[in-house]
Amino acid sequence: MRDKILMCSPEYFDVKYKINPWMDTDSECDREKAKEQWRTLKDILAHAGAEIKLIDQREDVPDMVFTANAALMYGNKAIISNFKYKERKPEEQYFAQWFKENGYDVITLPETMSFEGAGDALLLNGKIFAGYVPRTDIVSHTLISELLGVQVVSLELATKSFYHIDTCFCPLSGGYLIYYPEAFDKYGNQVIEANVAEEKRIAVTEEEAACFSCNAVNVGKTVVTNLTTDRFAKLLESKGFSHIQTDLSEFIKSGGSAKCLTLKI
Ligand code: ARG
Repeated sequence: MRDKILMCSPEYFDVKYKINPWMDTDSECDREKAKEQWRTLKDILAHAGAEIKLIDQREDVPDMVFTANAALMYGNKAIISNFKYKERKPEEQYFAQWFKENGYDVITLPETMSFEGAGDALLLNGKIFAGYVPRTDIVSHTLISELLGVQVVSLELATKSFYHIDTCFCPLSGGYLIYYPEAFDKYGNQVIEANVAEEKRIAVTEEEAACFSCNAVNVGKTVVTNLTTDRFAKLLESKGFSHIQTDLSEFIKSGGSAKCLTLKI
């Protein structure tokens, strides 16, 4: 079946506040360039075989373009995010409304529990690997596990820069995993190593992590990332993937890249 991906055109994208270390409100954000970069990403994904669905961006939420944070999708269920910061909270209702209108079962979590959707929860080998501390509370992991009847493996995000699990951990088809070992503590690395065989693990360097190489979108055998190193490109290709790089510099200014701009639905 074709992958369906939800995206949001960056009509009002901007860096207006700072809620992660990448965001700098003094740096100019070029919206026309952002739109062009976003369109190119969308075209690449469509060409790779994905069906792209769109939600309109609302004016009051510059980060709504990062649809990965809309919800955690599991079958027809959409567990809507409870954003940690007030700046992104209005997105919750916009996304919930879209999922309702499009026939999904919308599930909400208790208000006090932070949880940032597919930005912090990713399926690999039948388990959900979920990040916690910067944006998502670990208590939400237990609840999600109960709601979906799926084992949730909790991984603490040990650095400030890799604040959503999708910035440092990316499951690919065939059980492969791109990840940045330094973003996790010793226990986290042990858990990853116990769950993913060595030949399936694609570890990135500091330089590659910093250009968001773990924030990849996988459609079939194609993997799309921001511009990265030749080493990384060759490594992915040696595992049988075809790798496409596309410049997403405007979104990096907000601490997001390819994967953050998409949500598989
Ligand atoms: N500026 C956004 C934030 O801090 C970026 C979100 C990136 N999304 C992601 N899934 N990693 O919330």
